Amino acid sequence: MTDHVIAIDQGTTSTRAIVFDRTGSVVSVGQLEHRQIFPKAGWVEHDAREIWNNTREVIGQALSKADITRHSIAAVGITNQRETTVVWDRTTGEPVYHAIVWQDTRTQSIVERLADGDTDRYKEIVGLPLATYFSGTKVAWILENVEGARAKADAGELMFGTTDTWVLWNLTGGVDGGVHATDVTNASRTLFMDLKTLQWRDDILEAFGVPRSMMPEIRSSSEVYGKVRSSSLLREVPVAGILGDQQAATFGQAAFEKGMSKNTYGTGNFLIFNTGEEIVHSKNGLLTTLAYQLGDGKPHYALEGSIAVTGSLVQWLRDNIGMISTAAEIQTLAESVEDNGGVYFVPAFSGLFAPYWRPDARGAIVGLTRFVNKGHIARAALEATAFQTAEVIEAVNADSGVKLLELKVDGGMVANDALMQFQADILGVTVVRPVVAETTALGAAYAAGLAVGFWKDLADAGRNWQEDRRWEPAMSDEDRARAMRMWKKAVTKTFDWVD
Ligand code: G3P
Repeated sequence: MTDHVIAIDQGTTSTRAIVFDRTGSVVSVGQLEHRQIFPKAGWVEHDAREIWNNTREVIGQALSKADITRHSIAAVGITNQRETTVVWDRTTGEPVYHAIVWQDTRTQSIVERLADGDTDRYKEIVGLPLATYFSGTKVAWILENVEGARAKADAGELMFGTTDTWVLWNLTGGVDGGVHATDVTNASRTLFMDLKTLQWRDDILEAFGVPRSMMPEIRSSSEVYGKVRSSSLLREVPVAGILGDQQAATFGQAAFEKGMSKNTYGTGNFLIFNTGEEIVHSKNGLLTTLAYQLGDGKPHYALEGSIAVTGSLVQWLRDNIGMISTAAEIQTLAESVEDNGGVYFVPAFSGLFAPYWRPDARGAIVGLTRFVNKGHIARAALEATAFQTAEVIEAVNADSGVKLLELKVDGGMVANDALMQFQADILGVTVVRPVVAETTALGAAYAAGLAVGFWKDLADAGRNWQEDRRWEPAMSDEDRARAMRMWKKAVTKTFDWVD
């Protein structure tokens, strides 16, 4: 009896395998972190081989913890850190370079060259501005800078993929006939996919110097792509769902319809606002992206507010500065003071994403006085997450013309009650957390389960959503307006920092 679905969540800091049952409850979790490689300022890399080895291992962990075998698994779903770029040799299966991570800013000069004064030149077609964040310039960098890569690419010997594609290709056999495909949500993060036709644009590929032969096939988010061949633990189980992690969280939050949204607090924060079958172009710094497509059904679109640094600021205080020794300590430290003491911390480590899109910005702590101690810095670091989210929601309200009344949240940082209260205060809207906080993996499980009939339809899957807790805003309008004003002033101090 196939009573379970397994989701592989290939994230920025770790890879996890999570087994779900029919009610959408977590049965078991396998998890391994991978190395974060920082060769130079602004460069962020992962070892794609390590990620694939970890994927195999976490599948084993999850199955053994659940005490089940492949015979009780109906399908595999994949969700992933988006935009992170892998290029590998189709004959040997070896990556030609480390994976270049979404946070990496090395491609700024390629962005400028391609933009030729207009970073929005492809926006109408692909929904994205030209920016280092997306996969396109990262592939171009590999072809331009890795010895021998250009010649091999021209000879049709290389493959490109985001990490969903890398995991899918390896799971389904790798060099022995692995399936080279991606889904519409991941494809919509490359700068190469036409939002209307859901196909790669030859003219844009050509402008970037990327041969079409490297590109995976674009498929829907929920269909059988192939069967597992390389991991004996899951042999013959269909791989049937792929969603980029933010779209997967939207799905896991059952935000299937137009007007629904969610905000995920991970390494960065990503707000997705479902616009249904309509392609909406933002006038306020949001991205237009795919929400999902089920089989040959109509594609659903979304507006997205992407914030590069939120949870990773806490990691940075722990790993680079040594101010705390565990991530959880940030809350204790922040609670040791009454307020932020006038300190604002703008973590523009990868420039600023939404709503500013300022690659020239760099991080700043402003408002320092002799009074300030590390409690204030910790508090300002946490508050930065809420302020950045508030700015993205201002943009969503302006683009949609309606005020968001409630924010569904998920991700690691939503365990922090004080932060969630501050978020409700600074937004002036109710913040709601679901019981299953693993919405990303759950969304990928839904996509896979729907394709094989494990769940009947969206309503069947959505029925599992349950509220855990809500926070109501308690700050006065005047205090909120003042705090936002100070935050925005702090943001302006980070601009024009790149020489
Ligand atoms: O666009 C980047 C995003 O997909 C990364 O998500 O959760 O791995 O930080 P996360």
